[in-house]
Amino acid sequence: MKAIVHSRYGAPDVLQLNDIDQPIVNDDAVLVRVHAAAVGKGDWLTVRGLPYVARIRYGLRKPKHRVPGFDVAGRIEAVGSNVEQARPGDEVFGWCEGSFAEYASVPEGQLVRKPANLTFEQAAAVPISAFAALQALRDTGQVQPGQQVVIIGALGGVGSFAVQLAKAFGAEVTGVCSTKSVELVRSIGADYVIDYTQEDFTRGGQRYDLILEMAGNRSLSDLRRALTPKVTLVLVGGSGGRWFMGIGRTLRAVVVSRFVRQRLRSFFSKPRREDLVVLKELIEAGKVTQVIDRAFPLSETEEAIR
Ligand SMILES: NC(=O)c1ccc[n+]([C@@H]2O[C@H](COP(=O)([O-])OP(=O)(O)OC[C@H]3O[C@@H](n4cnc5c(N)ncnc54)[C@H](OP(=O)(O)O)[C@@H]3O)[C@@H](O)[C@H]2O)c1
Repeated sequence: MKAIVHSRYGAPDVLQLNDIDQPIVNDDAVLVRVHAAAVGKGDWLTVRGLPYVARIRYGLRKPKHRVPGFDVAGRIEAVGSNVEQARPGDEVFGWCEGSFAEYASVPEGQLVRKPANLTFEQAAAVPISAFAALQALRDTGQVQPGQQVVIIGALGGVGSFAVQLAKAFGAEVTGVCSTKSVELVRSIGADYVIDYTQEDFTRGGQRYDLILEMAGNRSLSDLRRALTPKVTLVLVGGSGGRWFMGIGRTLRAVVVSRFVRQRLRSFFSKPRREDLVVLKELIEAGKVTQVIDRAFPLSETEEAIR
């Protein structure tokens, strides 16, 4: 089969389109004919092996998984002997190791039937980004109806889901984005939009209940200025040094939050099948849709990551 492979970390030109063997499907997994995979910030980071501390998980000297790609949408071709529900021909979406390929082996528990109203491309854009948005809002942020919620990075992979999910949870939503994204952020449901190139949301005097921070470029003290004592700040994204990137700011938040009344929360998302079911239902109910920047053929994955 054709697959994108990399044997070292680096700029996207480490990615090559090669012919490799189809993955072996174990008893609890299914073979998926991949119709679409998603490329997001997480893929950009794993191709580069960043932050360095993440190489403990992804491979110290070289990538443990030769084929990158996490999100997947496609059709089941074959099932392992212990698989109970999935059947060949089912259209599914979920997450796996190695979706930048024609076929992927995926544990049955990491797949759900594709929402009927989505194309494969749309479905592939959901899992990893939407898990982060859902879990940051619902579990870590404990969003409540009527709250004032700010989504920083409102048209990013995570932010575009967070805006819609916060609305679905009954919150009043302010999206923070750049000029080019203002109209689109409004169109996915934000009540207010702040263009960060024109206005600093921490200086407007408005006080918020919950802030989801995806941009990663503001200091903790800057962000705390926008918080009332009862407010929750969930640090989802991060940027900075190659060793730890946002993890440094997140750890500072954990320490500082012990001494202040504001709730400063670190956040690490976890792929969960039950959350994929929740997302599928919201999508089928028309409450959440996905924003895709561009689509590329498999052979242009290098360009997509770039
Ligand atoms: N903790 C976790 O478990 C977890 C899970 C998933 C993702 N993440 C992290 O969360 C972050 C966001 O991921 P993503 O996939 O959404 O990335 P993304 O698609 O690149 O989105 C980031 C967004 O931030 C916006 N942005 C940049 N500077 C900004 C500023 N000063 N103010 C407001 N918005 C700004 C960008 O908008 P413009 O292009 O318009 O500037 C972009 O839309 C990444 O750092 C990612 O690694 C963490």
